[in-house]
Amino acid sequence: MTMATPSGPPGTALVSLRDRVATEVRRVVVGQDEVVDLLLAAAVVGGHVLLEGVPGVAKTLLARAWSAALGLDFRRVQFTPDMLPSDLSGTVTLRFDAMPVEGARGRQDLAFRPGPVFTNVLLADEINRTPPKTQAALLEAMQEAQVSVDGVSHPLPRPFLVVATQNPIEYEGTYPLPEAQLDRFLLKVDVGYPTVADEEAILRLPHRGVTPIALEEVQVAATAADLAAAQAEVDATTVADEVGAYVVAVVRRTRELPSVALGASPRAAVHLLAAARAAARLRGRAFVTPDDVAGMAAPVLRHRLVLRPEAELERYRPDDAIAAALASVPVPR
Ligand SMILES: Nc1ncnc2c1ncn2[C@@H]1O[C@H](COP(=O)(O)OP(=O)(O)OP(=O)(O)O)[C@@H](O)[C@H]1O
Ligand SMILES: [Mg+2]
Repeated sequence: MTMATPSGPPGTALVSLRDRVATEVRRVVVGQDEVVDLLLAAAVVGGHVLLEGVPGVAKTLLARAWSAALGLDFRRVQFTPDMLPSDLSGTVTLRFDAMPVEGARGRQDLAFRPGPVFTNVLLADEINRTPPKTQAALLEAMQEAQVSVDGVSHPLPRPFLVVATQNPIEYEGTYPLPEAQLDRFLLKVDVGYPTVADEEAILRLPHRGVTPIALEEVQVAATAADLAAAQAEVDATTVADEVGAYVVAVVRRTRELPSVALGASPRAAVHLLAAARAAARLRGRAFVTPDDVAGMAAPVLRHRLVLRPEAELERYRPDDAIAAALASVPVPR
């Protein structure tokens, strides 16, 4: 007798989850399969994602469809220069349902009105358009999985995943995230233009006027238990000592490159290994290979490297530095 699980044979919870979620997302979004995988990788290791891409490449649509397929609650917040931390976390207000007795006003008359951060998937659009104080409120929520308002802590729902989008840094009137904050994001995903064939296929999707309507047809393809099973599976993915040493060597190499002013941190190494575990499972394997590490190096490390000004002038990119680091570290066999 075999143990039947809703996610298929043992050891394939993440693959099965990905296939079901990707099928649903494809009803609405053409291409961008890699982004679906990377969002899942982040969700199963409890990391957060920065999405970068020009307007109109379906960043919002994708995040929305992906959340719906996973049955997760989704909120989108447009970050603006005048936004306050309380616009995100919520406010304490006077309760109006009971008339307070004269002089008897106490804590019970105060009600917490949760802000939009109380969700599973928070799309933080244009995070660098808001001043540091509000950015810090979001970062705190990401780090602690709770928010404090008026000295009272409120736990956030689980899972809690921030998908933040960023403007190009040169853009006027932006507040670029400091390196210390960027380091807290597990992945930075570049969302590019579609291929010609994909762009033609986008036009064939059902629209009502300019509005894509297939979003309403996205079915919930996973339960919280499926996600938990995939998480447990990823945590149980084994890592040989040589592969762990490879992760460390790649990360340390980024600190020695002549083009790099600030290399990747030990936190980056932890993030890289976690992402590589998810990558291994997405490829149907129960152990991490150097290839899984190399494949995740760019999305995990690119936002954490600060290049020297002269390298930037020569249009050298963080991805080039990561490629150089990978090329110069011997791959364990
Ligand atoms: N790959 C795609 N598949 C399906 N529709 C797409 C795709 N790319 C773009 N579109 C169309 O473009 C519209 C804009 O997408 P969306 O609002 O998600 O872009 P965005 O990347 O979030 O842009 P912005 O940066 O301005 O917020 C979608 O509603 C859809 O009609
Ligand atoms: Mg958008």
